[in-house]
Amino acid sequence: MRPDGRGDGSRRADPASLFDIPSNFPDEVQPVSESESPQTEEPRTNREWREQWKVDVDVDPRDIPLPELNPGHDAYHQANKALPLFERLRNDAPVHLCEQSQFGPYWNITRFAECQYVDSHQDLFSSDSRNGGIRLGGRPMTEEPNPMFHLPMFIMEDPPKHDDQRKVVAPLFTPRHLAGLAELIRERAGNILDGLPTDADFDWVRNVSVELTGQMLATLFDVPQEDRHKLIHWSDTVERIGDPDYFETPQEGFAELWKCFEYFNGIWQERQNASTRGADLISHLAQNEATRNMPPNEFLGNMLLLIVGGNDTTRNSISGGVLALNQFPGEYAKLKANPDLIPNMVPEIIRWQSPVAHMCRTAMEDTEIGGQQIRKWDKVCMWYVSGNRDESKIENPDALVIDRPNARHHLSFGFGIHRCLGNRLAEMQLRIIWEEIMKRFEHVEVVGEPRYLKSSFIRGITELPVRLHPR
Ligand code: HEM
Repeated sequence: MRPDGRGDGSRRADPASLFDIPSNFPDEVQPVSESESPQTEEPRTNREWREQWKVDVDVDPRDIPLPELNPGHDAYHQANKALPLFERLRNDAPVHLCEQSQFGPYWNITRFAECQYVDSHQDLFSSDSRNGGIRLGGRPMTEEPNPMFHLPMFIMEDPPKHDDQRKVVAPLFTPRHLAGLAELIRERAGNILDGLPTDADFDWVRNVSVELTGQMLATLFDVPQEDRHKLIHWSDTVERIGDPDYFETPQEGFAELWKCFEYFNGIWQERQNASTRGADLISHLAQNEATRNMPPNEFLGNMLLLIVGGNDTTRNSISGGVLALNQFPGEYAKLKANPDLIPNMVPEIIRWQSPVAHMCRTAMEDTEIGGQQIRKWDKVCMWYVSGNRDESKIENPDALVIDRPNARHHLSFGFGIHRCLGNRLAEMQLRIIWEEIMKRFEHVEVVGEPRYLKSSFIRGITELPVRLHPR
């Protein structure tokens, strides 16, 4: 490691590439050597790590010395205080090196144009988990990783493997295939909304957002609807693996995720041997040459990709829409006057919420972004949530504007070869739920403070108290 701590290609096995856990969290096989560690005593538990990297989220970002700004710290996001940090970075240092963090050093890319540039140059900036992957915690590896803690998935592959695996599931997300799901989504949305209490406050997240997206997941995997709670649990586990409120150590969290492998393994065997291929994600993966012989950790990794992709993101857009319309009552009035605005409102909600806050890449050559020298192996973090509020690209970006011209021009789905595969499905679910909401309710009123997810990766709302005002 270079004295300034920036990546120099010193590569080692790292279990953290999928998760927001510290970059040098030791696993059982590859303990971190003392020479690599900033401390002589490595913390061993999630709690010890959090203690070591505490921040005061109430400090004005303008008072924090620039090199110390660490927007990857999940405390800012949980307190809903990350946006002012990004505003400072966009203004003062749009390509910014955070020199020290629980994830090691990393570059923050906070403007729209540079995020788009990095995202669409996959030869320069790798997604491969062996080079560091897409999460802040991931670092390049030199040794074979322990498969218990290393879960490859195609979002963390470069071509050609990425392209081969993406192609396998892509047919399930074509407009034609999705059109066949529209009526099912409408029926479910209607049932969920009709079952809500109209005489008491309740949590919109659990009762609506999680329900609709959980039911969709069970359909995509073609598993019994009652098992959707298991899928939701594993999706949540991915974001909680470094959280001491849930797991003492990341290893415990990984053990929970392997239960997901146990669940799907039998289904996989059945569908691999079926004489006709089902129209579900598992059947496609189990019967295609590019994916049928995946080792267990890669199989689990790809399952988790599809579970998290299909769950957390859409869920938070559904909740974010209710919150945003309450924060901008003029926009809610526009919607009531003209529900035909829903198709334009949907991408605007997805921009405003930015449910995937960031994606990382690793520089594969010395290069330059926005006048800053980036070295080979440097970690680069594209903050979609910040680019989506870049006032040089988007007028009045903090506001929800449901009839915004060009509303689709946002970063929330990424760009380039990894652009979100489920974007049409997500938009369709949002469009239908809003159509059904508008038929039934004069107003969905937010009646308490929202709570936010402890994650700098998924920009999530965990609780949103509401009261319904039926028509
Ligand atoms: C509003 C909802 C959603 C948002 C904001 C979102 C966002 C994203 C983002 C930012 C990426 C990475 C893009 C990049 O690196 O350039 C991505 C990739 C992906 N998303 Fe989504 N997503 C959403 C819904 C979904 C849904 C419903 C699914 C369905 C299962 C899904 C499946 C995927 C998959 C499989 C990838 C990996 C694509 C690849 O690597 O080629 N997403 N998504």
